[in-house]
Amino acid sequence: MKVLILGSGGREHALAWAVACSKRVTEVVCAPGNGGIAQVARCVPVDLKDLAAMVRLAEAERPTLTIVGPELPLSLGIVDALQERGLRVFGPTRAAAMLESSKGFAKQFMQRHNIPTGNFAVCCTAAEVERAIEFFHAPIVVKADGLFAGKGVIICPSRHTAIEAAQGLFTGVLLGEAAQQVVLEEFLEGDEISFLCLSDGKHVAPLVPSQDHKRIGEGDTGLNTGGMGVYSTDQLLEPSMTEWILHHIAEPTIRGMAEEDTPFAGVLYCGLMMTARGPQVLEFNARFGDPETQALLVRLESDLLDVLEACVEGRLAQTEMRWSRGASACVVASSAGYPGSYKTGIPITGLVAAGQIPGVQVFHSGTALVDGQLLTAGGRVLGVTAAGDSLKEALARAYQAMAEIQFEGMYYRRDIGHRALKSALKS
Ligand SMILES: Nc1ncnc2c1ncn2[C@@H]1O[C@H](COP(=O)(O)OP(=O)(O)O)[C@@H](O)[C@H]1O
Ligand SMILES: [Mg+2]
Repeated sequence: MKVLILGSGGREHALAWAVACSKRVTEVVCAPGNGGIAQVARCVPVDLKDLAAMVRLAEAERPTLTIVGPELPLSLGIVDALQERGLRVFGPTRAAAMLESSKGFAKQFMQRHNIPTGNFAVCCTAAEVERAIEFFHAPIVVKADGLFAGKGVIICPSRHTAIEAAQGLFTGVLLGEAAQQVVLEEFLEGDEISFLCLSDGKHVAPLVPSQDHKRIGEGDTGLNTGGMGVYSTDQLLEPSMTEWILHHIAEPTIRGMAEEDTPFAGVLYCGLMMTARGPQVLEFNARFGDPETQALLVRLESDLLDVLEACVEGRLAQTEMRWSRGASACVVASSAGYPGSYKTGIPITGLVAAGQIPGVQVFHSGTALVDGQLLTAGGRVLGVTAAGDSLKEALARAYQAMAEIQFEGMYYRRDIGHRALKSALKS
């Protein structure tokens, strides 16, 4: 069977690699793909902002299954459009994807269904912000409602700066585009966990937990990025905590969406803060995370395609997912200057040697294959992903492989997994 994957990042490279491992798959097509994906799939150009172009591509390719990687096509309604044309597709409909595409909708939804999350106010004008701000204590989190690729969240040290930030979002000064709504949030403290689940609209199946590193600098300092590394180990959550999150967060979300006639099928990514009063939802994503997916898929022992098809066909409850017992880590290498401006077109070397280290897969994020030469083509260039019997082993393998790779201006954090290693030392 033929599988079409939409997207061009490390997440899509990992998905293409995992799907290509399935015995039933004869062809993997990825649109638009990247230099690394081109080694496991046929890449075809498409603009992920152009719904009609994506539909035309799927109609021409007629895949048995389409897998949607990023949030933008979901929010444009790619799943609805393909379903209307009788094409099978993995991902939530446009209405269900609002759990990610509107932070205001997500917060009000959680309130309606008693899902634990911090206090908040959804405001449509600067005057509403000034009234609501009285109910918040600094620091205050100000978020633009909508998809802003990690740039729409501002943590403000005072009420005054929060009002200014909200004004900047409404006028478009901060993001180059005016926000329609702004969400004010209570600042939550704790460890952040990425808790991803699959759902077919009724049943919920958790994936193994992981922890992302969003800041550019070591020790979690500096600007926010798309993610500089991630690790996954079962020790991140006690089994009883996993059960609690399932029963109080993931399952009520899927049940609530079904009750509101917008059933959610696909990946429900719960971004959680483990606070002193228990896990609280920071946000939902309606898709696989990046780079979480890279670290999760090297631990998945079941056939990914079987699991995704079970979601599409509504039989997830009868499908088992098996995971390796150990751990995994993904360390991201970025271009000099990222998350600010950076150069592209720089040659990359050492990937063959890196890939030969046991348990290692190099998933490309921003690379291009030009006349047989692999070049940088983005801010996050690639993620070295390694599985191991322990987190220590996975990290050692990832860093050993990273040492083989070179491109001018290459940067990566040397402290991925530092929080887990510290707590392991304590215990
Ligand atoms: N209420 C909050 N309290 C503390 N930190 C927060 C809060 N909301 C968001 N953050 C921080 O900001 C990051 C980005 O916020 P998030 O809601 O995930 O937006 P997005 O991923 O769409 O940019 C989170 O990963 C978290 O580190
Ligand atoms: Mg987030």
